[in-house]
Amino acid sequence: MKVLYREDLSTILYTETQIATRVAEMGAQISADYDGKPLVMVGVLNGAVFFLADLMRSIRVPVSMDLVAISSYGSYSSTSGVVRIMKDLDESVESKHVLIVEDIVDTGLTLNYLVDYMRARNPASVKVAAMLSKPSRHRVKVQLDYLGFEVPDEFVVGYGLDYAQRYRNLPVVAVLKPEIYAGHDTPPNL
Ligand code: IMP
Repeated sequence: MKVLYREDLSTILYTETQIATRVAEMGAQISADYDGKPLVMVGVLNGAVFFLADLMRSIRVPVSMDLVAISSYGSYSSTSGVVRIMKDLDESVESKHVLIVEDIVDTGLTLNYLVDYMRARNPASVKVAAMLSKPSRHRVKVQLDYLGFEVPDEFVVGYGLDYAQRYRNLPVVAVLKPEIYAGHDTPPNL
């Protein structure tokens, strides 16, 4: 089958089938862990909405959702870790079990900030579900309670992840050819 944007991609890391299988496994685990607990999944806009929608449909216990949008300061290669909330939670998470849903954990600075931000709102608990993680890029210790896949230290796109707002609708996770962002400090949107 023809892969969308194929000429811009070097390696396909995870196929649609591999992603669907892993998401279903994560959903089963989350369903077992949160049985009888008020669960709210908090997705991080924009990249995590694809993963959030699939993961949520594979969860077999009652669950609600909320969305936050953040902006990070600094560039991709020298991210500052300073994060600003551009869109806050719509509902209170007090006494609820919060599951933060992230697309990819790179340095881990964004996630650390979000975990602290949620903890300050008196939830019953805070855990993290991330689709992808780049362990070699982590700069802080990150708590990944549910993880889809690890990826190498390369810029990846697809399944919600973009480069300059492109490639989000690619159904696979793939490495973007470096020449696509040559001359830029990787993504201009980070
Ligand atoms: P962190 O704070 O360095 O962990 O950055 C996390 C955010 O950077 C993710 O939510 C993505 O928006 C973005 N990001 C990091 N690596 C990639 C990548 O390889 N592809 C697309 N976006 C990425």
